Amino acid sequence: YEKQDGRPSKQRLLVVANRLPVAAVRKGEDSWQLEISAGGLVTALLGVNEFETRWIGWAGVNVPDEVGQRSLTKALAEKRCIPVFLDEEVVHQYYNGYCNNILWPLFHYLGLPQEDRLATTRSFQSQFSAYKKANQMFADVVNEHYEDGDVVWCHDYHLMFLPKCLKEYNIEMKVGWFLHTPFPSSEIHRTLPSRSELLRSVLAADLVGFHTYDYARHFVSACTRILGLEGTPEGVEDQGKLTRVAAFPIGIDSNRFIRALELPEVKDHIRELKERFAGRKVMLGVDRLDMIKGIPQKILAFEKFLEENPVWRDKVVLLQIAVPTRTDVPEYQKLTCQVHEIVGRINGRFGTLTAVPIHHLDRSLDFHALCALYAVTDVALVTSLRDGMNLVSYEFVACQDEKKGVLILSEFAGAAQSLGAGAILVNPWNITEVAASIGYALTMPADEREKRHQHNFMHVTIHTSQEWAETFVSELNDTVVEAQLRTRQ
Ligand code: ADP
Ligand code: G6P
Repeated sequence: YEKQDGRPSKQRLLVVANRLPVAAVRKGEDSWQLEISAGGLVTALLGVNEFETRWIGWAGVNVPDEVGQRSLTKALAEKRCIPVFLDEEVVHQYYNGYCNNILWPLFHYLGLPQEDRLATTRSFQSQFSAYKKANQMFADVVNEHYEDGDVVWCHDYHLMFLPKCLKEYNIEMKVGWFLHTPFPSSEIHRTLPSRSELLRSVLAADLVGFHTYDYARHFVSACTRILGLEGTPEGVEDQGKLTRVAAFPIGIDSNRFIRALELPEVKDHIRELKERFAGRKVMLGVDRLDMIKGIPQKILAFEKFLEENPVWRDKVVLLQIAVPTRTDVPEYQKLTCQVHEIVGRINGRFGTLTAVPIHHLDRSLDFHALCALYAVTDVALVTSLRDGMNLVSYEFVACQDEKKGVLILSEFAGAAQSLGAGAILVNPWNITEVAASIGYALTMPADEREKRHQHNFMHVTIHTSQEWAETFVSELNDTVVEAQLRTRQ
């Protein structure tokens, strides 16, 4: 890649994801406020700077008028973002419906929402049509902005139909697709009415990536069992065409967190937090308020710990920071009520006039406040029922080089495969086990904490989001070269 003056330039990368790294809030007819979006996909990709990146995605807001669309496009261009405008009905059926009410729970082994299972089953077809329509709208925008030599990197379960749409536009386009959630066992994927269409569309990509080897293996099994294709160590083969399938574990921009701890503002914050919680051990949970995160189970385990260990009742505090997410989906609304109810009950039961055992915040924290909180934490609790990777666990480790706190980590998070040796692994469904692990973590000797932390810190600082993206894109470039070679032979 050379600029006109002969200097090498960065490769252009079109990152296509349902959500842009910033969400827009309308302040006037043509004025917008842009706020950083929460979620692991955004966190990881913001740490990637070796490419000339353009983001294509939905700005999280309905903009029906042309004036608004023009002004938002202009505001987003400054952030190298290109919007896809989805109307309310498409968002309802595609995003709230097919993506978050069907694919998300299914891919995390939670099944369809219990109460409206039949209604959901009935709406499969219309929601899948909206899903395809939305994916086509993303494809149109990509096609409009694509230049020869670009690499197109599609992300996540929202856009499984996109690789096929893109290849229909231009078979030469280099297309990669990466899933940020688990890919479930083929026995689960088989239950989806649109199971084959989704698999075939993903296979149109040149490279398909997952966080762990297990997810990649499940995907290949689904292609062999459902589509009758051949699975090879390289990927999936269909009539001589190979789609490469592999694991590319994601990471974070660890230096950003480590550097932030040196800022005076963060140091002040750390001092304040230490004063505020003096005499008490701090336990921390940071999650989107999502059913996969196992927040009710985590809080119940904490209650069990307090119940069984009265001496700890005024010596430990759990800070649960849960940013609301997908608030139009009924299942998420129910979860919010459930969590509030449990927290209220436990605080009523174990609180005193001056202190409560759980501080639960339904909000997002800014980056510096989050770093300070990670740094003062003695024990982090990541109890996802399933999680593609879980970057909160990585962020905690990156901020703990001084304190060397303990990570309690669900064995069902992808991160268990990378941070398992340093963390205490738990089955989040087993609250007795989690309660016992809390006791173990709070009393762990310093030398054991140090050893566990070193293992994890090394992993988190070596396997960064930058390395993840470079590996994926370089393999994607090679895959296309291979395909061209095959055509020439
Ligand atoms: P997911 O992608 O499912 O949300 P991850 O743990 O991989 O899970 O990533 C979550 C990202 O969102 C992290 O970068 C984390 O810092 C951020 N995040 C989650 N909850 C909050 C919160 N309450 N305040 C600020 N950031 C948050
Ligand atoms: C997970 C998904 C992302 C998604 C994020 C936030 O990390 O893998 O694709 O962006 O959650 O969810 P939201 O629905 O708000 O985009």
